[in-house]
Amino acid sequence: KLKIAVIGGGSSYTPELIDGIIQRAIELPVHEIQLVDIKEGEDKLNIIYSLTKRMIKKAGLDIEVYKTLNRRKAIANSDFVVTQIRVGGLKARALDEKIPIRYDVIGQETTGPGGFAKALRTMPVMLEICKEIEELAPNAWLINFTNPVSIITEMVLKHTNVKTIGLCNVPVGMVNNIAEILECDKANLKIDFIGLNHMVYGKRIYLEGIDITTKVIDKLMEGKSPNMRNIPDLNWDPELIKSLKVIPCPYHKYFYMKDKILEETKQGLTEQGTRAEQVMKIEEELFQLYSQKEVEEKPKKLEERGGAYYSEAAISLISAIYNDKSEIHTVNIGNNGAISSMPGNVVVEVNAVVGKNGAKPITVGELPTEIKGLVQMVKAYELLTVEAGVNQCYSSGLMALVSNPLVPSVDVAKQILDDIILENNRYITLD
Ligand code: NAD
Ligand code: G6P
Ligand code: MN
Ligand code: MN
Repeated sequence: KLKIAVIGGGSSYTPELIDGIIQRAIELPVHEIQLVDIKEGEDKLNIIYSLTKRMIKKAGLDIEVYKTLNRRKAIANSDFVVTQIRVGGLKARALDEKIPIRYDVIGQETTGPGGFAKALRTMPVMLEICKEIEELAPNAWLINFTNPVSIITEMVLKHTNVKTIGLCNVPVGMVNNIAEILECDKANLKIDFIGLNHMVYGKRIYLEGIDITTKVIDKLMEGKSPNMRNIPDLNWDPELIKSLKVIPCPYHKYFYMKDKILEETKQGLTEQGTRAEQVMKIEEELFQLYSQKEVEEKPKKLEERGGAYYSEAAISLISAIYNDKSEIHTVNIGNNGAISSMPGNVVVEVNAVVGKNGAKPITVGELPTEIKGLVQMVKAYELLTVEAGVNQCYSSGLMALVSNPLVPSVDVAKQILDDIILENNRYITLD
């Protein structure tokens, strides 16, 4: 009997998860789903709850679905806890995207100073959730989607006793996209991933076991490349793709094309607003759809969100653990030697063998010199952000931003940090 608690159950992505549970009902006998949210999310939670019940009924499944604002009750005795929360909501996200722009720095919700602010708001809440899991469901697996996934997973691993795996749809998206570009079956495509969340590269790519990395690089040089709905669709410089020798992820555009992205976002700000503001509109339409009694399946419109298809990652991972499959998944977990140029105890995004004891990272070797500096720098930024959050420490926060490759100077770092603290005063204190 399998119990899953979804924290942030009112998320518009929840139908994604439910769809995944329905698709895998035969191998994954879920008995109880607890959808949990907070007071502010209650209206969304109610709509998601009714839709979930309709989806389960249509699928002819016998799963008990509950909605609650009582997180402790929902967590108690769960086998899996899925976290997908947004502390401060989309309003706070809009600020994360706007504050850095004031100083000509990219404002993005997971990367750079925007992701830093989101991390600081989120860490205290995730610590509370973990305390409850330790107390009420000590054997549960925490599957974390909450961004920034790298930083949150790092904090959980270092500062709690909760068994956790961080997940993102970027690796899945890269496999799907490259299979499309090559016009091959994605089941035959294997990518050796190396790096961090939203900072992950394909080191080698294999089709039916044959190394086709150079062929993929040639294709990408023609201009086609994986992207996501939430990232400006700028073409890669073919010279960069050739010289990197590994496959970047869509989020690398923020680092290799800072100037272009900044220009593009500034223009977009006057035309369509921040991504948060665009998402507010999409979300409104999504919830209108979700409210309709005739809607009994995950609507196509959900594909307009950047996180589309993430249930593929989540539910297949849960099934791999539950059924002890020893299956390969791309996950965020402790390095343990998988990447030789990274410390053993930091969280990385790599392939791992997943079974009932969790995820065991597969050795992927050295970070090539072309990408080593950037990845290590971002890891240092992440570690300092965890320090800042856990100790509420201004110095660590400042050094985190100073270490972030998107922040040009200490002066800018200070101004952004002070704005973040001031404008997030409900959520963030640093001394
Ligand atoms: P959302 O704004 O819909 O928030 C989800 C729910 O969390 C809301 O219903 C909200 O009320 C609730 N919430 C807020 N604070 C909470 C708290 N303290 N405790 C419990 N619930 C709380 O957000 P969303 O767009 O669905 O995204 C949710 C999270 O998932 C974000 O952190 C986002 O970055 C992340 N995400 C990650 C991936 C990935 O690839 N890992 C993909 C998509 C979204
Ligand atoms: C991508 C990322 C997620 C991120 C999402 C944003 O899928 O992997 O981590 O949260 O996009 O999408 P949104 O529609 O909220 O802008
Ligand atoms: Mn992601
Ligand atoms: Mn301090």
